[in-house]
Amino acid sequence: MYSKIVNFIKDTFNETESLIPLHEPRFVGNEKQYINDCIDSTFVSSVGKYVDLFEEKIKQFTGAKYAVATANGTSALHLSLLIAGVKSGDLVITQPLTFIATCNSISYIGAQPLFVDVDKETLGLSVDKLESFFLTETYSDINGNTFYKRTNQRIAACVPMHTFGHPVKIDQIVSLCDKHKVHVIEDAAESLGSTYMDKQTGRFGKLGVYSFNGNKTITCGGGGVIITDDDNYGYLAKHLSTQAKKPHPWNFEHDYIGYNYRLPNLNAALACAQMENLSSFISNKRELSRTYKDFFSTIEIQFVDEPINSKSNYWLNAIVLKDRNERDAFLEFTNSNNVMTRPVWTLMNKLDMFKNAPCQNIDNALWLEDRLVNIPSSVRI
Ligand SMILES: Cc1ncc(COP(=O)(O)O)c(C=O)c1O
Repeated sequence: MYSKIVNFIKDTFNETESLIPLHEPRFVGNEKQYINDCIDSTFVSSVGKYVDLFEEKIKQFTGAKYAVATANGTSALHLSLLIAGVKSGDLVITQPLTFIATCNSISYIGAQPLFVDVDKETLGLSVDKLESFFLTETYSDINGNTFYKRTNQRIAACVPMHTFGHPVKIDQIVSLCDKHKVHVIEDAAESLGSTYMDKQTGRFGKLGVYSFNGNKTITCGGGGVIITDDDNYGYLAKHLSTQAKKPHPWNFEHDYIGYNYRLPNLNAALACAQMENLSSFISNKRELSRTYKDFFSTIEIQFVDEPINSKSNYWLNAIVLKDRNERDAFLEFTNSNNVMTRPVWTLMNKLDMFKNAPCQNIDNALWLEDRLVNIPSSVRI
């Protein structure tokens, strides 16, 4: 059975000799031209036309009012949490099944993640579990702020993550959080171009974050973007990511503790070229996912399909194996046969840094951790 899968993947990627990676970048457009232009202009660092152009392209693509390019997705998350008013000692709701950057960025502020379970269907934050958490584990003060009963810490924000590009039920998460005065910051690092009810992921929360790391659907080497519709947040994202310098033709005056989180023009040039191919890459990836879905249905292995009401970018295709033993045997076989596959991340609550963070019942995350495997998902050219 495993060799049937390996052969199918090799056929699908038309590759019999070399390793088939999980996700490689594709540079098939104007990348070299824009980068050369950038070098010729000498504007290779933090100022330049490509940064503005990239931000403009993201605004057009997502429909967001503001888009601010940053050095990477992790810095975009850190800044978004700061801007949303998360303070040291606060709690931030998130899912245990996520990439480490979600929780690291919470920790940079001195806040702590609070883990709520995921859905098996969406692989992201569960609406039912979130609702029952608010109902049984929290209380509100006279201003409507929400606190965790067991420690009396304020719950300042919630960071749902669209796992592998599959949208969570983000409208319901936002409306639950709104009722409890908890800001939603969408970790849409993996889901650029995925939509929920025809609206781009990243646009439902107060702030949304994308990553353009080398393994993402499109890349600029390393980079991130914060999107928001809020005028003040939009201003703060730009201001704080650029050392909080007050605008002036020559004076150096700064009015906050800012960050050097801006994206260099050189990376933005790459991003602009990649943006030109985003829609065709997503169509290509969606076609690959259909091929996988059909194949896995013939051998009765569960393929992770896009959730209801959504259109996924299928950043990483995933399958669900019978149990941890089968998962490990599959990983062993595929990786030693030139097909790169990977298990999902070790759950965040199991890591030393977060093992004392408040954690609700996370049965679904534990179940998925034992079974989920990512399979090659690059754009096919
Ligand atoms: C869910 C998630 N959040 C955040 C990040 C951080 O993005 P970056 O690597 O650009 O810092 C990534 C990916 O790398 C991610 O997958």
